[in-house]
Amino acid sequence: MKTVAIIGAGQMGSGIAQTAAQYGKTVLLCDVSIDLAEKAKAGIEKILGRLVAKEKISAADAAVTLGRITPVGDYAQMGAADIIIEAATEREEVKRKIFEAVSMVLAPTAILASNTSSIPITRMGATVPDPARFIGLHFFNPVPLMALIEVIPGLATSADTTARTRAFAESLGKEVVLAGDEPGFVVNRILIPMLNEAVCVLGAGMGSIVDIDKGCRLGLNHPMGPLELADFVGLDTCFEIIKVLHDTTGDPRYRPAPLLVKYVEAGWLGRKTGRGFYDYSGDVPVPTR
Ligand code: 3HC
Repeated sequence: MKTVAIIGAGQMGSGIAQTAAQYGKTVLLCDVSIDLAEKAKAGIEKILGRLVAKEKISAADAAVTLGRITPVGDYAQMGAADIIIEAATEREEVKRKIFEAVSMVLAPTAILASNTSSIPITRMGATVPDPARFIGLHFFNPVPLMALIEVIPGLATSADTTARTRAFAESLGKEVVLAGDEPGFVVNRILIPMLNEAVCVLGAGMGSIVDIDKGCRLGLNHPMGPLELADFVGLDTCFEIIKVLHDTTGDPRYRPAPLLVKYVEAGWLGRKTGRGFYDYSGDVPVPTR
């Protein structure tokens, strides 16, 4: 697959665009406005510039990579794509609207993939014209650095679509795990309840932010503590995912931590808003409690 269209130019969409371009794909990058897509490309240019400064890639390679990314203002050009990857907000109604619109231009053999973190693929696939070519393709943040992609076939996804999607994921230099179409799939089904529990532990006064994170970093050898990681993923995203687990399974063990709900209501969403469990306004993150 040579041409990749990406819908959603946030943290995940930008990371997917950078990775795909670095692995030789032609990338069409789209968001709700061309300005946002262009801003994302400028962000990728900055990251590539840092890699050049560190002599990890050459200036020529950075220029070629950047040249492969075209910001687009609408879906019209996406008829040229071999695969369209939706990487929009983790809200089902938003994704459904995108699938409806993009299905009008999807080429007859192209694949429509969702980078959803938790929403059932079978349920979303039922809303597109050809569910056999609809699949979950779950990247991890930061995409250029994380080695894994989960591939999630829905009930109606064809074996051909799964095989082609897997080959595409591997062509981005990633390892693939096949995950069942259950809420959260494999990795987030394990990770997000852990992050939610860390917020419960904080809310219950059992440990400070620093000690909860230090405990998991040193006691479990995790690269980031759970509260640091929740801020990194985005507290709104963590909340949306735990809510999907709770609503879909009906299991009370997935109840969102009350303190997580409060932070989201306050608009303290983690790194992206400059404040979550840590304050990111200075040179180093400072715990807020
Ligand atoms: N492209 C290419 N290289 C990059 C890069 C990019 N966009 N950004 C940074 N790098 C390079 C840096 O230049 C640096 O290179 P150097 O070591 O030669 O200097 C190297 O990558 C590491 O960068 P940092 O020093 O900034 O990073 P750290 O060593 O502190 O590691 C981390 C950062 C990889 C984020 C690490 O802390 C980590 O693994 N954290 C956990 C991340 C995680 O769990 N992600 C999954 C979240 S869950 C998810 O995404 C699913 C979703 O559905 C919720």
